[in-house]
This record gives sequence, structure tokens and C-alpha cells, in this order.
Amino acid sequence: MALQDFIAELDSLAADAQSAFSGAGDRDALEAARVEFLGAKAGRLKAVQKGMGTVDSGDKPAAGQKFNAVKKAIEESFEAASSRLASAGSSVNQDDFDVTLPGTPLRIGRLHPITQTIERMKEIMGRLGFSAVEGPEIEDDRHNFEALNIPLSHPARDPLDNFYLSTATKTAKAGAGPDGKPLLLRSQTSTVQIRVMESTPPPVRIVSLGRVYRPDTADATHYPMFHQIEGLLVDKGVTMADLKSVLRMFCQSYYKREAGHEEEVHIRFRPSFFPFTEPSVEVDINWQGGWMEIGGAGMVDPNVLRAVGYDPEEVTGFAFGMGVERIAMRQHNITDIRDLYTNDVRFLAQF
Ligand code: PHE
Repeated sequence: MALQDFIAELDSLAADAQSAFSGAGDRDALEAARVEFLGAKAGRLKAVQKGMGTVDSGDKPAAGQKFNAVKKAIEESFEAASSRLASAGSSVNQDDFDVTLPGTPLRIGRLHPITQTIERMKEIMGRLGFSAVEGPEIEDDRHNFEALNIPLSHPARDPLDNFYLSTATKTAKAGAGPDGKPLLLRSQTSTVQIRVMESTPPPVRIVSLGRVYRPDTADATHYPMFHQIEGLLVDKGVTMADLKSVLRMFCQSYYKREAGHEEEVHIRFRPSFFPFTEPSVEVDINWQGGWMEIGGAGMVDPNVLRAVGYDPEEVTGFAFGMGVERIAMRQHNITDIRDLYTNDVRFLAQF
């Protein structure tokens, strides 16, 4: 083929393509034109390109240059047509866009009331020098019971009171811990005391906040999952007076700012029993003219200190555990714990 003929063919193809692109009235028409001219397999440009092989070899460089220029021009007119259609299709028409109209309000998310309570507790305990730590929710026998001085015969281990993952038997070991005893969803955050003391030498000053699980039927005050805050301080010469001051300072700063609790916060200890503390107490605070129970506490039992390799002659400690839901519910006058977990945004948006 002569160079002249090749160039003429390219020029007429360019003219056809340009008018097809600029005449396309919508996206479908433009796409059809694109396939016709620029299609990678059967496009007309591709067909003309094949003719280049028959151009005299001396003219090949000139033919190649012309081909590239035409190809670029066709692609550019396609782009131009494409952006013309895009701006025509847009709903924002420069002329009748009223910038004074109010915008569409964004719905801002917020933290769950339990998360807010937890963050606040962590912050207060942080100021008292307690650092926040976490522990696993699936626990083994040692951390949930054994090291907490809860012997094999103790009723706290009852399968009706715990979510065991499986009953490990001689043949079936699935769901069993390193000791071959069944794993369970932790029933209390006291497990974290053991984990921290096992891995750190005294002194220890921590709080742990997290979920615990007990097979209670859900009603207004029970739910099979809830949250606890656990505190632990172990050092030389720690006494029950330290426990009482820390709890009082905590309650004072937690409740001081709440509406309906202008009075000074007092706390009261009632004798109680926990396997892992000795002596043990229930803790109450004054609340709207009466007393409200907020949790359990006590001096860490020497058996627990020994179980983690501490020397009870050297160090002593206190521990306490409180229910986060109970405290949040009292604070916000929430009467049904289930409201906290139904995730109805009309309820959650109030906090
Ligand atoms: N773990 C106890 C409970 O779940 C609370 C507690 C924690 C009591 C620490 C004493 C010391 O009821």
C-alpha cells in the first residue's frame, strides 16, 4: 500500500470517529461508538493498523508516526465526549443550586453507655495510680478457680453456674485447657489478678475491666453476660484501710458529678466471704437516703499469693470487684439491663 493511501484512510477514519463521538446522545451510544472505533479486537482503528504492514518499508516510520497521532486524536475526542455526558447527567446544575439551603444532617455515632462507664472508671483509677490491663474471656481451670483458692469441691465450679466449653473426658479432650480440665467463659474478672501476678513481681497496681459470663436467665436485673471492674494492689504493708480509702476515693469521684448525688459519698463494709480474699467484705455506698451494694472486696488470701509465687510474709494486697452494669444503671436510672443489649438506637442515643 502507498503511504498516501494509508494516510488518507487514517484521516477519514478520524473524521468518522470524531463525528460519532460528538454525536453520541447518551452513555450507551458513546460506548457503542467506542467499541466500533477503538475496540481492541474488531475496532476500525485496529483494522486500519493492519494495513501498515503493507506500506513500503522506507515509508514505515512516517506511517507509524501518523498512526500514533491519529490514534491519540481519536482517544482525545472520546474523552471529551465522555466528560460532556458526565457533566450533563449530574444532578447539580450550577445555575439552580441554592447554597443557602441547609445541608443533610449527619448522624453522629456515640459510645455505648457501658463503654462510657468503663472509660470513666479507667480514667479515675488511672489517676489513683492503677493501670488498666486485659485478660482472655476463655479461661482455664487454674485462672478461674484453682489459683483463686476455689478447690475442686467448691460449689462455684458447678456446671449450672458456669459456661464450660465442653466436658473434658479421658477420650474427648476438645475444649480442655493445658491441665486437661475443661475451659470455660470466665465467670469473674478475678482471673486477671492471677494472670498479672504470675507474670509480674510485686508491687502490682492494676484494674481490669471486661466481660464475664454466667448462665443466668435474662430478666430485668440479670443477663448471661455482663461487665466487671476488678482492682488489685499488692505491695509491702498494704492494709484494709488502703482498700477502704481507694474505694471511697473512687466512688467519691465517680458519683460526685452525677445529678441527684450532691451529698458526700460514704462507703460501708459488711463482712462476707470470697475464697480468694480473707477477710472479705461487701461494699455499699450511700445512695438516695439508703445503701446500695456495689461489689465485693477483701485482702488477698495468702493462698492466692502463694499460688502465684509471692511470699505472703513479704507482701499483702487488696482486691475488689464491682458490676459495671449495676453502677451504670443506677447512674442513668435504667431499670432493665436488657435495654443495654437490645441495641435500639432510640435508647442508646440518650446517653
Ligand atoms: N470476683 C467476685 C465476684 O465476681 C468479686 C470480688 C473481686 C470479690 C475481688 C473480692 C475481691 O463476685
